[in-house]
Amino acid sequence: MPRESLIKRAGNEHSGAKCFLISGSIWFALGTLAGLGSAIHLVAPDFFANISWLEFGRIRQVHVNTVLFGFVVSMLIGCALYILPRVLATKLYSERMAVLASIALNLAITIGDIGLMMGLTQGREYAEYIFPSDVLVVLAFALLGICFIMTIVRRTEPLLYVSSWYFVGAILWTIVMYPLGNVMWHPATGAESGVIDAIFLWFYGHNIFGLLVTPLAVGIAYYMFPRIAGAPLYSQILSIIGFWSLLLFYTHIGAHHLIQAPIPTWLKTVSIIDSYAMMLPVATVLINQWYTARGRFNKFLVNPAAKLMFIGTIWYAIVCVQGPLQSLASVQRVTHFNNWVIGHAHIAVLGFTGFIALGGMYYVLPYISGRKIYSEKLINVQYWLLLLGLVDFFIVLTAAGLIQGQDWLHGATVYRTVPMMKPYMTLRLMGGLLIISGAFIGLYNVIMTFHRGEQIQL
Ligand code: HEM
Ligand code: HEM
Repeated sequence: MPRESLIKRAGNEHSGAKCFLISGSIWFALGTLAGLGSAIHLVAPDFFANISWLEFGRIRQVHVNTVLFGFVVSMLIGCALYILPRVLATKLYSERMAVLASIALNLAITIGDIGLMMGLTQGREYAEYIFPSDVLVVLAFALLGICFIMTIVRRTEPLLYVSSWYFVGAILWTIVMYPLGNVMWHPATGAESGVIDAIFLWFYGHNIFGLLVTPLAVGIAYYMFPRIAGAPLYSQILSIIGFWSLLLFYTHIGAHHLIQAPIPTWLKTVSIIDSYAMMLPVATVLINQWYTARGRFNKFLVNPAAKLMFIGTIWYAIVCVQGPLQSLASVQRVTHFNNWVIGHAHIAVLGFTGFIALGGMYYVLPYISGRKIYSEKLINVQYWLLLLGLVDFFIVLTAAGLIQGQDWLHGATVYRTVPMMKPYMTLRLMGGLLIISGAFIGLYNVIMTFHRGEQIQL
């Protein structure tokens, strides 16, 4: 295709959302494949012997970063790019800027992943990508920040519906948090040293979930609940309390990852207290959304996009009951450093934000493509594959974590514990295959929707 026509097409309505949603679907499939690579290692450690780029230490990092930034972040932003102009009754400030942001983010992930497979890592969880990728991520968010703010400035709807608060908050917080957490003033290492570095990292590490993917997912759910229920939002006040209390409490809780580390005790105490205080913003969101749907839950079961999104809010409730519990020092003596936390991570990132991202994508896809979803049946198949795979992960990893934790607490040798993990890791591998199948079926459905979906006038 000639260059000019591509540039022209980048300015078309919804091209930004399309780029983010299609990239998100592709990274979902690739990122879970890297998860499969990691899971195989834990069942058969010699399976990829002598293939350096597939070593556990490398492919695990590829998996985590790709599903986080490639799948969840991209897909949520794709939905936000469609929803923000709708709730503000205006056009997106610049489609080209949004497309450029998607290109920058995709480049960041590609360079970052290739670097990780070559062994180039900054070695800090969720901040492993090397400096050039960090620069591209910041560029992507800066472009999105301008785009979102200018759309608000030009809006014709005076009321700022709660979704727009969450979307703009997520982007602006990330512009500040990402360079801080990645210690970008030390480009070579991306790190400070010692305990200070750990505090910096986990300030960022938990905020990337709490102040980026959570507000994006919550903003999407706030848009979809009233539309699908066909009812007004239960309470505007609750939605604003939820927004500000999220900002107030979440920013302090990163230290709950360091309860077992030699950081100041006051910092641990604040992080535990605020982990419990987090129940306030979470409760406001869930009460508000579920009460909006009250008496109309059947509408959420017949629409596959709504079903995915609704189940995402149920995972959110489970994650946020488990979260405060596992921030207690007494509980962490058993649950820290083992598969319990991996279970929490998967139900949080895939169950809560991933399910809402997918629900949001299927909801907005017809509006941005002008076509019906190619196959609603395939969404249902994907839904069941993901749900069964994730329930498997949750049960198996939680049980495995409790065994590991109890053994460690009682001083059992790892030679006794490690072989006991084999059946659990095998069951996780099987659950993973269900999730991967779901990811590829979803990708097929998205591609076919753009190519073969029945055209509609919306
Ligand atoms: C009330 C809300 C929440 C609380 C209090 C909470 C608490 C915690 C705690 C204490 C840990 C560390 C456990 C340990 O290392 O022993 C943790 C880990 C984690 N949480 Fe949450 N959580 C909450 C919600 C969420 C949400 C909404 C997400 C994602 C959207 C999330 C994603 C994660 C991830 C990915 C980890 C693993 C971090 C690692 O790699 O070690 N959490 N959470
Ligand atoms: C889109 C879906 C998925 C998401 C969002 C996701 C997310 C994550 C996250 C955040 C972590 C880091 C957890 C931590 O350090 O606490 C992780 C680790 C991991 N994931 Fe996934 N994952 C997904 C799918 C899969 C699949 C399908 C498999 C297996 C086939 C898998 C296997 C693994 C493995 C083996 C680890 C490393 C566990 C360890 O270090 O012991 N994941 N994943």
